[in-house]
Amino acid sequence: CPHLGAPLRGGSVRCGSLVCHWHGLALDGSPFAGWEPYPVHDDGVLVWVRLDAVGGEEPLDRPVVPERPAPEGSVAAVHTAVGTCEPQDVVANRLDPWHGAWFHPYSFTDLSVVRAPGDTAGPGDDGFAVDVSFKVWGRAVVPVRAVFTAPGPRTVVMRITDGEGAGSVVETHATPVTPALRGAPRTAVVEAVVATSDRRGFALARSSAPLLRPLMRAAARRLWRDDLAYAERRWRLRRDGRFPG
Ligand code: FES
Ligand SMILES: [Fe+2]
Repeated sequence: CPHLGAPLRGGSVRCGSLVCHWHGLALDGSPFAGWEPYPVHDDGVLVWVRLDAVGGEEPLDRPVVPERPAPEGSVAAVHTAVGTCEPQDVVANRLDPWHGAWFHPYSFTDLSVVRAPGDTAGPGDDGFAVDVSFKVWGRAVVPVRAVFTAPGPRTVVMRITDGEGAGSVVETHATPVTPALRGAPRTAVVEAVVATSDRRGFALARSSAPLLRPLMRAAARRLWRDDLAYAERRWRLRRDGRFPG
């Protein structure tokens, strides 16, 4: 049953409609059983549901989806976590590139912020550019340049612009789950990693995407364990009036 999943074999047919025996929903064969479904958008990696009145904002026709590498040349993995904080705390964490090597020494080293928004006032100068080395295995590191931008109020995109995996993106979406006014706010972090590479070996890696995805998710899970602690603490400090943010 489309309502809460009752087995419809236990229902009965009345006047041409199949009536669910849990709450009496009558299914007459029409597409939505008289319900008004929410508008959805499947962007190929994430599925979006538009909750018009709940959001309290003017709805867009479509979500703002950042440019991603082509699906046939990339591997995508999605990690989701929920924390006690507001979306601004997640965004603040993502737009603080300085914490990377200090707070995640198991993943990053040799980090320097080479450009901050407004540094050059040129076109496209609205992001942080960061040179950083990813630790991949033991002492092996991969140096890259990554640029962080915020294409929407609750989305931060990190794009690798130089080095191994150039063109890969990590997009982080912070979605409020409960309103701030109702006790402690809850925010879902939905992070899509879309990895690509020019290397020949990557085509091979792509064919083992089912093996690669759990590794990508595990890496995101580890980072977000720490980053949610950062975001949650930021919210608590603000709640207690100890932090102006
Ligand atoms: S589960 Fe069928 S009506 Fe509720
Ligand atoms: Fe982080």
